Amino acid sequence: MPVRPIEWIPEDSSGKLIPGHIRMIDQTSLPEGLKHIEMDNLDEICEAIRMLRVRGAPAIGIAAGMGVVAAIQNLPDRTTEQLIVEAGRAADRLALTRPTAVNLFKALDRMKATAAAGASLAPDALKERLASEAMLILEEDREMCRRIGSHGASLLADGQTILTHCNAGSLATSEYGTALAPIYTAAEQGKRVHVYADETRPLLQGSRLTAWELMQAGIDVTLICDNMAAQVMKEGRIDAVFVGADRIAANGDSANKIGTYGVALLARAHNIPFYVLAPTSTFDMTLKSGSEIPIEQRGPEEIICGMGRQTAPTGVRVYSPAFDVTPASLIAGIICENGIARPDFGTSLRLMHK
Ligand code: MRU
Repeated sequence: MPVRPIEWIPEDSSGKLIPGHIRMIDQTSLPEGLKHIEMDNLDEICEAIRMLRVRGAPAIGIAAGMGVVAAIQNLPDRTTEQLIVEAGRAADRLALTRPTAVNLFKALDRMKATAAAGASLAPDALKERLASEAMLILEEDREMCRRIGSHGASLLADGQTILTHCNAGSLATSEYGTALAPIYTAAEQGKRVHVYADETRPLLQGSRLTAWELMQAGIDVTLICDNMAAQVMKEGRIDAVFVGADRIAANGDSANKIGTYGVALLARAHNIPFYVLAPTSTFDMTLKSGSEIPIEQRGPEEIICGMGRQTAPTGVRVYSPAFDVTPASLIAGIICENGIARPDFGTSLRLMHK
C-alpha cells in the first residue's frame, strides 16, 4: 500500500490538534533505511523542505501549511493580532525555501487568509483554526490524488507498461501520488501494470524513491538510467509516459523535474502518449505560459559529489536547473482530480480549474 510521508501528530488524545508536531519520512535516507523525523520548529521545517527531506509539489505544500502552525503554536502570551503577524512572518520564511512548486505558495496564501479571517477569534482558537486548515490541505490532497488515480487508470489496460520520471508517487503527496496514483488504482482493479522508472539524475528520486515505493506496494517496476529511455521506447516497451508536475501554466506548459522535457521529446519521436498528472493545486492560472515559471537552481555539490563520492573535478563549473518545462504541444493530456484535460489546454484547463 502507498505510504504517508507527512503527518501532524497531536500531543494528546483530547481531539485538539494543538500542541502537536510534524512527523515525516526523511526521504534523503531512502532507500537505505526508512527513517522518520519529528519536528515542531520553523527552522527545521524550512531545512527539511530545502534539503528535500520532504519533497514533491503537493507534499511541500502540506509541509508549508503545517510549518505555519508549528511556528505559532508555542508562542505564549500573544494577542490574536500578534499571532496573525507571526503567521505571516512564518509564511514569508517558508516561501523562500523552494521556488518552483506552486503548491507551496498556494498553501501559504491559504494559511495567511485563514489567519486574517480569524481576527475575531481568541488566540488559542486561532491556533486551532490554522491547524484545521493545514489538515484540510492534506485531506484535500488525499482526495484529489485518489480521483487522479481513477481518471488515470481509465487509460490503462491490463498488461500495459508506463514510463515515469522522478517521483510523483505517495512520497511526493499526502498518500496516493499523482503520476503513480493510476498505477495503484489499476492494481486495486486487478490490472497488471508494469512501470519503468527513470533513475532521475542528479538526486535519483526515480531510483531511490519511485523504485522503493513501488516495490513496497508490490508493483512490478524496472529501473533504467535516464539515458536509456530512448532505447527502451524504441524497443516498443512503453505504452504511455506518466509524470507529475510542480507548476502548470494556463496554456498547459508544465514544469517538472529536470529531464522531463527530454522524455516528452522522446515520447513524441516514438509516438507514445505523454501525460502530466497533477491536482488543480499545481495549476498556476496566473501564468500565461511556462516561460514565466521560476526554475530552481541547485548547488554544484549535488552533481559533483552527489552519490557519496566525487564524480567530477574540484572547481568545475556546474549548471544545475532542478526543473524544466515541457511545452503543452508535447502533452497528450493533463489528468487532474476533475478529469482528463485535452488540448487545447487554454480552454480545457480553465474548465477543469473550477
Ligand atoms: O525536487 P523534487 O524531488 O521536489 O521534484 C519533484 C518533482 O519534480 C515531482 O515530479 C513533482 O513535484 C510532482 S509530485 C506529485
